Amino acid sequence: MIDLRSDTITKPCNKMLEAMLNANVGDDVYGEDPTVIELEQTVAKYFGMEKAMFFPSGTMANQTAIKIHTNPGDQVIAHKYSHVYNYEGGGASFNSGVSFKLLDGEKGFFDSKQIKQAINPKSFYHSPMTKMVSLENTTNKGGGYCWDVDEFEKIQKICTDNKLGLHMDGARIWNSIIAMENDPKLYGDIFDTISVCLSKGLGCPIGSVLVGRKSLIEKALRIRKIFGGGMRQVGYLAAAGLYALENNINRLKHDHVRAKEIANKFLSKDFVSQINDVETNIIIIELNKPEEKQKIIRYFTDQNIIFDWYSMGDKKIRIVTHLDYTDNDHKSLLQIVDKL
Ligand SMILES: Cc1ncc(COP(=O)(O)O)c(C=O)c1O
Repeated sequence: MIDLRSDTITKPCNKMLEAMLNANVGDDVYGEDPTVIELEQTVAKYFGMEKAMFFPSGTMANQTAIKIHTNPGDQVIAHKYSHVYNYEGGGASFNSGVSFKLLDGEKGFFDSKQIKQAINPKSFYHSPMTKMVSLENTTNKGGGYCWDVDEFEKIQKICTDNKLGLHMDGARIWNSIIAMENDPKLYGDIFDTISVCLSKGLGCPIGSVLVGRKSLIEKALRIRKIFGGGMRQVGYLAAAGLYALENNINRLKHDHVRAKEIANKFLSKDFVSQINDVETNIIIIELNKPEEKQKIIRYFTDQNIIFDWYSMGDKKIRIVTHLDYTDNDHKSLLQIVDKL
């Protein structure tokens, strides 16, 4: 089976499992798990930020960020493709009682001018108070694109001038850092909070980290508890994260090369109307005739290949390269696409 639905489907390698087995653990609800503390300190240092907190999922880390930046009734500015709006079960309204002002833009991006226009005037008390901007890097539904750091600086200025919290959903920030060859501290300088996932491109079975200013992450401790995310001897899982940070970031460039090669193969197919200009590990194929989708699904599934057929909508198919996608898998897939 070649499974390219998502980079979340990977299984821990033996060395990662060994690191987990050998972890030194304690009760993290008491703040006594040395491996969790090490992971949190490592991530905070990596981004040059003050403090970090281990979470079971990216969703919980994002939801916590929304909770700490807002009060019920407030509004969050985000892209219409964003995970926090589309794929977190309506959590922002359920957990924090906030609404979204959604922005449009190519590749899952928006710019500082759009933010400026989207901020509700404070004196106009009929509108919700705008309190936060959340953006995604890389953009998932947008096609795995990396934000331009120059735009971040302009966005930061608008947020500072208007007292808005600035959060990055960095579920795939590692892909962006590798593709853009950026210093992670650049992001740490700009954002108030960043959520990062260890369970996607980095190959951990579970785990995310929320990183930010000390005062914000201290607030996050209570919220994580309320959300049911206080975990006990979770150093076993944090050990997987430490292993991944050490071993699995630089190799992401291979995922990016393969993703480009896959996209190039599909480009020549007449059922394809458009493919994103691949920057990282996400390929989004837009079909000429959505009614042909079932035929395409059958062709690939008959050969034990699965992609994400549905989550991007009827007209699109998403393919995501990852750690468990081998050279042999890649060769076979390219041949199978050739024959289609
Ligand atoms: C951009 C983005 N943010 C957040 C998440 C949520 O992560 P989790 O599945 O760990 O809750 C995902 C998951 O796919 C994602 O793609």
